[in-house]
Formats: sequence, structure tokens, C-alpha cells
Amino acid sequence: MSEQLNDDLRKVTAEAEQLIATAGTVDELRQAESRLTGKKGTLGQLLASIGKLPKEDRAEAGQQINVAKRDIEDKFSLARARLEAAAPKTAAEQTFDPTLPGPVVPRGSIHPVTSVIWEFEDILSRLGFVVFGGPEMETDYYNFDALNIPETHPARDQWDTFWLDNDWLLRTHTSPCQIRAMEKYGAPLRVIVLGRCFRYETEDASHANTFHQFEGLMIDRDISIANLVAVMKLMLSELFHHEVKVRLRPGFFPFVEPGFELDMGCLLCGGSGCPACKHSGWMELIGCGMVHPNVLRAGKIDPEQYTGFAFGLGLTRVAMMKYGVADIRSLNSGDLRALIRPEQRFGPAIIEKE
Ligand code: PHE
Repeated sequence: MSEQLNDDLRKVTAEAEQLIATAGTVDELRQAESRLTGKKGTLGQLLASIGKLPKEDRAEAGQQINVAKRDIEDKFSLARARLEAAAPKTAAEQTFDPTLPGPVVPRGSIHPVTSVIWEFEDILSRLGFVVFGGPEMETDYYNFDALNIPETHPARDQWDTFWLDNDWLLRTHTSPCQIRAMEKYGAPLRVIVLGRCFRYETEDASHANTFHQFEGLMIDRDISIANLVAVMKLMLSELFHHEVKVRLRPGFFPFVEPGFELDMGCLLCGGSGCPACKHSGWMELIGCGMVHPNVLRAGKIDPEQYTGFAFGLGLTRVAMMKYGVADIRSLNSGDLRALIRPEQRFGPAIIEKE
């Protein structure tokens, strides 16, 4: 190994250190580095001169030059990192004022029906009800027969049905889920179903062919009408954040006996009569009753051992009442103005204003 080469390498390293010490900017460092390590730089020339050495010395010389080169490159990159870290920050990096308001993040809104679904699920699950669901395309067995509505029964006319080509139908109510839940879980049972239903209707401000229903079913030993009334009263009071009065009138649904129409005291006028309640002080809201023994039997539950109540209501209608939606068509229209802001969700229902 030649003394000469050793000497040269020591000199380049010293020069590198010198340049690093005096460079003030990253650019200056970059230039200095290429002057030393680039092809035409000192080290580059040393490498090029290897060819002139005797053959047996070439490998070792090349290795030595490369070691020195790597060492010098490391020194430069360290120096560069140090300079970069110490460089003054841009104005944006330098100033952070924590008292300034943050950027405005756009927030989503919620469909009134979704909001009411969430609220009912919350209220009823606190009473031990399980949220259950079923298919929107049903057989006439589940939609009618099992619910004590045989094919010849005039009550079938009560539900204007969309029949499908394959003899199935679009469910006209959520009640078929009563049978499905009984089949799946047996008794005792507490389930609610919130879902879409379909009826062959002419659309107007208060009728849609696609709407949401809310169904509930509670089966146990010794369930009575008193349980039904208590659950309904609590459920409505929670939903409207207001003590609600209820009353039962006789009503006919083939799958309950006795059957009722449950009215809620009008929250707008407090019962004294107003246009919203057609001056009666009451709003018709829920179909309900004690589960018919034939329906329990269809669900493989023994009516001698168990009794239960069922209720069903138009979820869409409740959403309209709660959020002051005047036209049912706006809810299925995709019109963003029909949506409600999140903070409206748990605030006082619009119906309570006044
Ligand atoms: N399914 C009935 C309807 O669509 C509502 C209802 C459900 C009535 C449960 C009584 C019991 O009108």
C-alpha cells in the first residue's frame, strides 16, 4: 500500500472536515461534497488513477479509496442533517396560535326516520326488547295466513298489496316478523322490528307506497293489557320528552284479540283541541292488542301457557310529527332539506313548541 495514497486520502479527509466546518448552508455543503467525491473531484481522480498502479496493488487501493469516500460522505450527510434541523422554520411552521378557531369540518345530517329508529331502539332496548328484522319480500304465509288472515278473509283488503311475479309479495306491514321471531326464539319473548313496508297506494302528502313501520311483541306468562298500556305510555313519553296521555279504543286486526287503536293526547294543544288533532284532543297512533291464540300457535307457542301483546305504528308518521315534516313525499325524495341536524335529534321535539 503506497504511502502516497495514504497521504492523499488523509489530506482529502482533512479538506472535507475543513469544508464542513466552514459551510453555512446546505447548498454550500452539497457543492463542497461533489467537489471532493464527484467523478471529477479529488476522490474521483484518485479512483481513476488506480489503473496506473501495478496490477497486484489495484484491489487494495480501490478498497481504501472507497472506505475513505464512504467516510467522507457520512460526514457530509451528518453535517447536512445538522444544518437542516437548525434552519429557520417557515412562517407557517413557526406560528401556532391555539386560541384561533379550528378549521370548520362539514358535518353530516340524519334522516328523520333514521333518527326515530335509533331513538325507539334505544328506549325499547332499555326495557329488554331485542331489535329483530325480517325480509322485505315475504310469502303470503307470513304476511297473512300465519297472522290469522286466511286467503278468503275480507281483512286482506285492508292491506293493498304489491304482489310479485313469483307469488311472493312486498310485506305490507312488519307483523310477519312476529311469526319469524316466535319461530326463532320461542317464549318468553320481547322483540321490536323497525323496517320498510310497502302498499299499493296513491301517493299524496300523507300516503306513500314505501314507508316505515315499528312493530313490537312481548310474550310471557300473565302478560295483560295493563302491560301493553304501560309500555306504550313510557315509550311515547320518552320519545317526545313529555308525559304523554294515552287511551284505548276498540280496533280490529285479525292477529290480536282484543284489538285496539291507541290514541295519544295531542301534544300541540294539550288536549283542548286544535287543527293537528282535528279538534278531538287525541291523535290516533298505534294499532295494538293481545296476540291472538292462532298467531301464538302459528309461532309454535302454547296459548294456554303464554299470553302477549303486539303493537304496530307508522314510524314515518311519528318522524313527521316529531320533526314537523309536512309532506311524506319529501322523506323519500332524496331532498337534503328533509334531513335534520345531529343536535336536533335529542332536543325537544318540534311538536312540543307552543
Ligand atoms: N300490522 C298492523 C298494521 O299494519 C299494525 C298492528 C301491529 C296492529 C300489531 C296490531 C298489532 O296496520
